[in-house]
Amino acid sequence: MNNEVIRVEDLNFNYPDTAVLRDVNFNLMKGDFLGIIGANGAGKSTLIKLILGLLPYETGKITILGGELQDVRAKIGYVSQKANSFNTDFPATVREVVIANLFPRKGLFKRFNKADEKKVDEVLDLVGMSEYKNKLIGSLSGGQQQRVFIARALVSDPELLLMDEPTVGIDAASVADIMDIICRLNKNGMTIIMTNHDTPTLLNAANKLLIFCEHGYEEFVSTSDLSLERITDILAGKRVHKHG
Ligand SMILES: Nc1ncnc2c1ncn2[C@@H]1O[C@H](COP(=O)(O)OP(=O)(O)OP(=O)(O)O)[C@@H](O)[C@H]1O
Ligand SMILES: [Mg+2]
Repeated sequence: MNNEVIRVEDLNFNYPDTAVLRDVNFNLMKGDFLGIIGANGAGKSTLIKLILGLLPYETGKITILGGELQDVRAKIGYVSQKANSFNTDFPATVREVVIANLFPRKGLFKRFNKADEKKVDEVLDLVGMSEYKNKLIGSLSGGQQQRVFIARALVSDPELLLMDEPTVGIDAASVADIMDIICRLNKNGMTIIMTNHDTPTLLNAANKLLIFCEHGYEEFVSTSDLSLERITDILAGKRVHKHG
């Protein structure tokens, strides 16, 4: 059985006025943790949106879990950049926000059962938000909302978890807790793709990095024996290693 989770080949993408991705190539196997780093505007969120099918790509190919996106969508979890922007009267509770992400698996008109409720309790517990279960999402702080969005992404037991700066707005001690949780899920076989401007944290957690360099190309490197100094060189466009 092929354990490849995602393969991105010769991917190119431009917005009307901006060329963003040029010939991006990488592939991940089950249990890989890919960190994506690069300056603001480098194209990290764009790449994640292309993987999720939220933007149409022009040339190249993305294969996920051996299939077409529409067949595997329910196996992908996503935490978007700045998910935490609900105003105080948004009419949904924490439980509802989390359980709603089981719809793609169950179908819209299936009722939730005890196992579903238990799963919601489990993921809220994992991110330390159990006591807020029946609160309105908009009444929580930004960092609390972000934790709920991580729980929402986890509730469907995704095989591939995409996280776009998931820990922005979360206090330092809690970031460490959340990274621990994500690393544990990764050790148990969940494949992770995460962007994060906190390079040391990513270097610690990921086994592979996709680095968007200053000169508009990307490097796909293994994190073994990679130091922060070396990453700085790669970011600045010093080609030290290239494969993919
Ligand atoms: N909807 C859009 N329409 C036009 N241009 C866009 C759009 N979204 C992003 N861009 C441009 O595409 C480039 C890449 O943006 P993207 O959001 O992918 O960057 P990023 O690497 O995620 O940056 P950040 O670290 O700030 O999150 C930027 O130059 C941005 O201005
Ligand atoms: Mg971004």
